Amino acid sequence: MTTPLAATVPNPTPAERNAELMRELERRMVAHLAAGGTTDMAPSPMRNPGRAYTDPLRLEAEKRELFHKLPLLAGFSRDIEKPGDVMLFDAAGPAIMIVRTRSGEAKAFLNMCTHRGAKLVRECSRRNLITCPFHAWSFDLEGRLVAMPGDASFEGVDRTTRGLIPVPVGEWRGLIFVKAHPGEEVIDVERWLGDLAPIMEGLELDKAGPVKLSQVEVDCNWKFALDTYGEGYHFSALHPATFGTETCSNTILYQQFGLHYRVNFVHKSYLDLVDKDERDWPATPYGGSHLLFPNTILYSAPMEGGGRMIGLYRLFPGEGPGSSVTLMSTYRAADAPESTPDEAFAQAHDYIEQVVRTEDYSVSKDGQRNLEHAPEGFELIYGRNEAAIQNNHRNIARLIGLPVE
Ligand code: FES
Ligand SMILES: [Fe+2]
Repeated sequence: MTTPLAATVPNPTPAERNAELMRELERRMVAHLAAGGTTDMAPSPMRNPGRAYTDPLRLEAEKRELFHKLPLLAGFSRDIEKPGDVMLFDAAGPAIMIVRTRSGEAKAFLNMCTHRGAKLVRECSRRNLITCPFHAWSFDLEGRLVAMPGDASFEGVDRTTRGLIPVPVGEWRGLIFVKAHPGEEVIDVERWLGDLAPIMEGLELDKAGPVKLSQVEVDCNWKFALDTYGEGYHFSALHPATFGTETCSNTILYQQFGLHYRVNFVHKSYLDLVDKDERDWPATPYGGSHLLFPNTILYSAPMEGGGRMIGLYRLFPGEGPGSSVTLMSTYRAADAPESTPDEAFAQAHDYIEQVVRTEDYSVSKDGQRNLEHAPEGFELIYGRNEAAIQNNHRNIARLIGLPVE
């Protein structure tokens, strides 16, 4: 590709707009490299109290204001492709199930029987009815109570008042969000994503196919783990034999989209473009690492053999401030060629999981322990080159009602 797409395509599709956007990002990447390895930066360093990571009361506020109130990404549309498919989402607190109904809608309910509260679904298989394992009450895919064995014992009970308890849900362009509390709201996903929405639309996530899901538990605050995704300052020191072999250290692009952000790490192959005429640059599919506030990293990256993978890294608080859970999932993107087998995506998944677990999260775990024993009043400091982390901590503090530096 040698000419900006806008000049050749009169009505670009979302994917074409994203390809054009990628070229603009590449110009910025190459400019940083041409300047000797500069990076996008915040106006000044920022301090943050160590107790932001260790205070149990603060964690309670984060659970209440962020994890129980805000829309959280539960999965992609193809996770529940056909009527009767069920996806479980327990990590934010309440056990939630998301069901594809016969009309093709996604509905979400508490995964709780309205008889005596038993958990209804334990695995994500396809079904016609949702039947409770305790006394076999059955609900249809719309959540209506349709069968109660021995119903004479419940004489006078109005079945229509005993349907499944709905949970706010919204599905847009392949993304399914829920809020982790009971409620009937339809979430306006496009509005929630704001200026990030057109970019998500261009990723064609409605066609992204699930390949692998795994769970990593780590003894650190969920924010300590999340911070590792937001800067490229650590690549050469922490990842010299893994991510650091192919990605430039301490050169990133950063952009805030309301509460959400994007960072772009710079592949070392871009060093070859510094002295090359832009018309000779290869076309690369749009990629980047996006935070869907508060807890989801959505990573789009090129795969060898063409097309992209989509990685989701969703971080949740554990029981206390010093523990967290990361749900990692990998999807094959719409543009991945058939010649690339699922196995290649599964291998990419395993590689990323292993590096994150043994390198990033190993530092997070030891660092968390240090913060728990640090002197009273100790403050971490985020550099100007850690701008995404700075702003994310400001946003979190603001939303839980704490003063912001
Ligand atoms: S608790 Fe579900 S049928 Fe009794
Ligand atoms: Fe890392």
